[in-house]
Amino acid sequence: MKQQDIGIDLGTSSIIIATQKQGVVLCQPSVGAVDTRSGTVIAVGEKALRMVGRAPSYIEIVRPLRDGVIQDHRMTHELILRFVNEVCPSRLIRPRVAVCVPAAITGVESDAVVESVMSAGARSVYLVDEPVAAALGAGIDIRAPGGCMVIDIGGGSTDIAVISMGGRVRAASLPVAGNAFDNCIAHAVQEKYGIAIGPVTAETLKKQVACCARTEFEAVLEVKGHSWANNLPARQLVYTRDLYAPVQELAARIAACAHGVLESTPPELAADVGRSGILLTGGGSLLRGLAAYLAGELHVDVRLAADPLNCVARGTAASLTMGRQLTAGFRDATPKVWRSALAPRPEPFS
Ligand SMILES: Nc1ncnc2c1ncn2[C@@H]1O[C@H](COP(=O)(O)OP(=O)(O)OP(=O)(O)O)[C@@H](O)[C@H]1O
Ligand SMILES: [Mg+2]
Repeated sequence: MKQQDIGIDLGTSSIIIATQKQGVVLCQPSVGAVDTRSGTVIAVGEKALRMVGRAPSYIEIVRPLRDGVIQDHRMTHELILRFVNEVCPSRLIRPRVAVCVPAAITGVESDAVVESVMSAGARSVYLVDEPVAAALGAGIDIRAPGGCMVIDIGGGSTDIAVISMGGRVRAASLPVAGNAFDNCIAHAVQEKYGIAIGPVTAETLKKQVACCARTEFEAVLEVKGHSWANNLPARQLVYTRDLYAPVQELAARIAACAHGVLESTPPELAADVGRSGILLTGGGSLLRGLAAYLAGELHVDVRLAADPLNCVARGTAASLTMGRQLTAGFRDATPKVWRSALAPRPEPFS
């Protein structure tokens, strides 16, 4: 039953599940809450996120993915299991599942992801590279011989790739993305105003006030935090101009990495990229002025995908229908032992 096939974007910030027909069917933060007294996972996704800063000390909030790497296998397993069962509750129809995994994932980590997906009741599991999924999700025909370049800026990592004829020709990844921008903004506010702000405030500043290119845009936000002088609550107005330097410092690192990828790209493909431009995907690419900044640094047109946050999940779902045409960046990872049609589907998570 094709409509049951799903694509999972296993992201540092959020886990998004899509089907080719329905588009995005689930989007939840990659967060879980553990009762440390019993070791049980008591909530995942939005429910767990709502507990941040409100839960008693025996409840630990866990973000199992960091900087594009799986840090906590057990929580990753729980999230996959619960979310897949939420989307595919039927015990009769076992879906084919494509998973877009972080670029820096190791063999052991991807085996653990495959195991989790299979134990959630999948019929078969496929692993997809993030830039390949991002390009597919943005509607690019990556089977064509003309090269295209994708920069996917997520929460934990930025993945850059030049793709041609269904596969990656050149690629690079760096742990500079949305979370790093949040950290550098928090650091800049602390340096300039002597106020420690939390990660949620830093992210709000990034979305509402920060800008990467010096444009006419100017915004201001009053932030609340703790004064470093006396450790008491403090308020401060933060302006766009306060954040140019720290934000540009990180954007420059992304530009340098993309420059390196372009430099090592064969000349014909580099010329294609020069003509078609660079596609930006991932939530981190929504940072105001980032596309213009990268275009200025790389001397190539840079355009933001239509739905940057969901591109990867949509492309991962789409990869299931064209797997054979993808020369790299897509592989059947179904363990042999699970290939039998008689392999039992485990009980859904209750
Ligand atoms: N409007 C916005 N402006 C700037 N950043 C934004 C905006 N909206 C979302 N983001 C950032 O996008 C990031 C999340 O993007 P995304 O969901 O693509 O990451 P992910 O896929 O979970 O991470 P990764 O691919 O690194 O594993 C967060 O850092 C978030 O703050
Ligand atoms: Mg991502």
